[in-house]
Amino acid sequence: MTLPNLAPIPELYVSAESAQKLKAEAGNMLSWDLTPRQICDLELLMNGGFHPLKGFLTQADYEGVLDNMHLTSGALWPMPINLDVSQDFADKIEPGQDIALRDQEGVILAILSVTDKWTPNKSLEAEKVFGADDLAHPSVNYLHNVAGPVYLGGPVTGIQPPTHYDFRGRRDTPNELRAYFRKLGWRRIVAFQTRNPLHRAHQELTFRAAREAQANLLIHPVVGMTKPGDVDHFTRVRCYEAVLDKYPAATTHLSLLNLAMRMGGPREAVWHGIIRRNHGLTHMIVGRDHAGPGYDDGQDFYRLDGADLMGCNDAAATNKWARKYPLRFLTDKPSRRDRGGRTVLNISGTELRRRLREGLEIPEWFSFPEVVEQLRRTSPPRGKQGFTVFFTGLSGSGKSTIANALMVKLMELGGRPVTLLDGDVVRKHLSSELGFSKEHRDINIKRIGYVASEITKNGGIAICAPIAPYTATRRAVREMVEAGGAFIEVHVATSLEECERRDRKGLYKLAREGKIKEFTGISDPYEEPANPELRIQTEGYDVDHAAHQVLLKLEQMGLIGLQ
Ligand code: PPS
Repeated sequence: MTLPNLAPIPELYVSAESAQKLKAEAGNMLSWDLTPRQICDLELLMNGGFHPLKGFLTQADYEGVLDNMHLTSGALWPMPINLDVSQDFADKIEPGQDIALRDQEGVILAILSVTDKWTPNKSLEAEKVFGADDLAHPSVNYLHNVAGPVYLGGPVTGIQPPTHYDFRGRRDTPNELRAYFRKLGWRRIVAFQTRNPLHRAHQELTFRAAREAQANLLIHPVVGMTKPGDVDHFTRVRCYEAVLDKYPAATTHLSLLNLAMRMGGPREAVWHGIIRRNHGLTHMIVGRDHAGPGYDDGQDFYRLDGADLMGCNDAAATNKWARKYPLRFLTDKPSRRDRGGRTVLNISGTELRRRLREGLEIPEWFSFPEVVEQLRRTSPPRGKQGFTVFFTGLSGSGKSTIANALMVKLMELGGRPVTLLDGDVVRKHLSSELGFSKEHRDINIKRIGYVASEITKNGGIAICAPIAPYTATRRAVREMVEAGGAFIEVHVATSLEECERRDRKGLYKLAREGKIKEFTGISDPYEEPANPELRIQTEGYDVDHAAHQVLLKLEQMGLIGLQ
């Protein structure tokens, strides 16, 4: 007899023949271009990973999930899975209507039969799901600043899964995994959820957990969306493949999960458990601060221990639906207190990143050399990484002149390609249609930020020298660039009086006469950076001195070496 965890699970796909027909019909429907997060959600809805959901949550289910983690059917479900859309799009939709859901290339993946449309209270959702309406939490920030204002709910009819071109052989649907376990005769299987590279301690604890549960092991890392700043999944998968060899042969399997994580701590741990059970697993290891957002101050956001979730085992025992599909939580808690009086060594994630950045040794007791080699390939030491120097300051403050001098000095040092994105030059080649309204200045700066982030990501040096008068826009550029390297904000702090006295281009005079509108410093704002990496005073100093200050800062940050 097939064990319940290994019997096929319902999917939302129609047959290939019906899919062809539906696709033709869907061509005439209003369509929504899915966001990357929605594509992840849709894939797991359609392949049964989110069973028992049959589509995006209705309003009643959404409210139940927020209030008590249950759907109206009585099933346990902790995480809101909504189709968030723009107000413009929502205004065109009425419940009762079918809409086509397309991937980012326009391919129709599914049809949503809309039954519900509502405007959620996002602060309430943040409080209930994440425990705080705090923008420092990445998913609360996403909820308020990225997700659309209106939610659509209703059943989904699956036409085709999203296409993946990477690691195709390592991606399995719940039914593919269940079939694999049936074929190998695996009955008890422990899942290890992770969004980080595996090191020795992880290998050891997963192996022990599986042995204690007398089970096989599935390394089930998330390769959809994880926490901003995580090691990219391409690198991680190469690390997992290296660790796979360290387990006894035929005990352990690796499969990739295209989940968009929410960093929802305990709620998310329960959600991960349900998803794992849908994939045919019987046990899941829950770690310290499981799916926590991990704040910069090093504190755990939820301050919960994996062991606290063991309560879920009891909760599951009283839930009718969970009894039918049981899954046990295991704790990954290796004792933090060493009873033998020996010193326990550890390297934190932050320390590991520092060692990689600075090219320092990573000891073999901490990680496998093969894993370190993969990490070093994508995290070269700082002296080899790309970076962006972003000058900001008033018109005529001297940004372009210092930027030009810096470029020449960096080219003299050699080693990395240098690109100068000067304000005037960018406006000529990238932003010629733009004026100086707030909206246009923001578009201009974001274009510069995008180009600089691509250069940085690919190991080059970008030097930018626009006015960039708004703090929020500069912060957005910083975030874009820091995803791939360092960002050095340099405030060229020449005073307005001095800029006006110099008036190199004669623009201040025209601005004073009202002949140029919205002129920065005269009739338009300039928000001074509060905490730039460097602030340069130009009055009384020459250009060479100013450029040299930047070089010294770059050297101090380990980005360049000066002889
Ligand atoms: S912004 O705000 O960052 O988008 O501006 P930026 O792209 O750096 O362009 C600034 C240059 O455009 C000229 N200019 C003006 N500056 C400010 N306000 C108004 N209204 C304006 N109109 C034209 C000016 O020469 C700036 O060049 P720099 O090199 O800064 O002096």
